[in-house]
Amino acid sequence: MRGGALTADTIERCTKADFDQVVAEHGAFWDSDLTLPLHHPIFIFEFGDSAFVIRDGEKVTAYLQGFRSQVERVGYVHMVAVRSGYRRLGLARRLYEHFVDQCKRHRCTGIKATASPKNEASIRFHTAFGMTMIGDGEVDGVPVVRGYLKPGIDRVVFRMAIDCGTGFQPVNR
Ligand SMILES: CC(C)(COP(=O)(O)OP(=O)(O)OC[C@H]1O[C@@H](n2cnc3c(N)ncnc32)[C@H](O)[C@@H]1OP(=O)(O)O)[C@@H](O)C(=O)NCCC(=O)NCCS
Repeated sequence: MRGGALTADTIERCTKADFDQVVAEHGAFWDSDLTLPLHHPIFIFEFGDSAFVIRDGEKVTAYLQGFRSQVERVGYVHMVAVRSGYRRLGLARRLYEHFVDQCKRHRCTGIKATASPKNEASIRFHTAFGMTMIGDGEVDGVPVVRGYLKPGIDRVVFRMAIDCGTGFQPVNR
């Protein structure tokens, strides 16, 4: 099923078979192999309650892998990707909304994600979702946290406060 016919009901937990499919067909979701090593089964086996997929039949069309931080009340999105041909249909937004709902139920006060400063689609998506880019530097006009990944490798860091209904505490770092 495509586009508008997809409903929130079609969001399900990511199975190991889904994970294996995503890894095998990585190029359908990403422009380069750089993110392949970041796909680790801990996001299914250990953080599996916050790893979601949307499928078209047996085909995974979009996935989100996340977890809730142990050091702050924040949900972190480790990975979100939508299969080429299924983009701009709102699938990533649905996955994020689903993740935010779950984070609220777990009394999180914010969500966080990171991206390469070169990943324009990601920056557009996250800012359209309402997330703020925080940082102490700039790359081509994009705010970055300098050396976030490792010395010399900056990252865009997105934050957004969410109201979990138990005393709203905006996240501002
Ligand atoms: C970034 C990505 C996940 C967005 O997924 P998507 O399902 O196409 O995004 P959505 O349809 O939910 O987009 C929601 C809104 O975000 C914005 N947006 C998303 N992609 C955009 C793009 N390429 N250019 C401009 N705006 C974009 C738009 O405002 C869009 O709303 P609209 O379509 O009504 O204008 C997808 O492009 C992707 O998988 N890219 C490759 C993997 C990747 O880079 N992941 C992010 C890593 S941090």
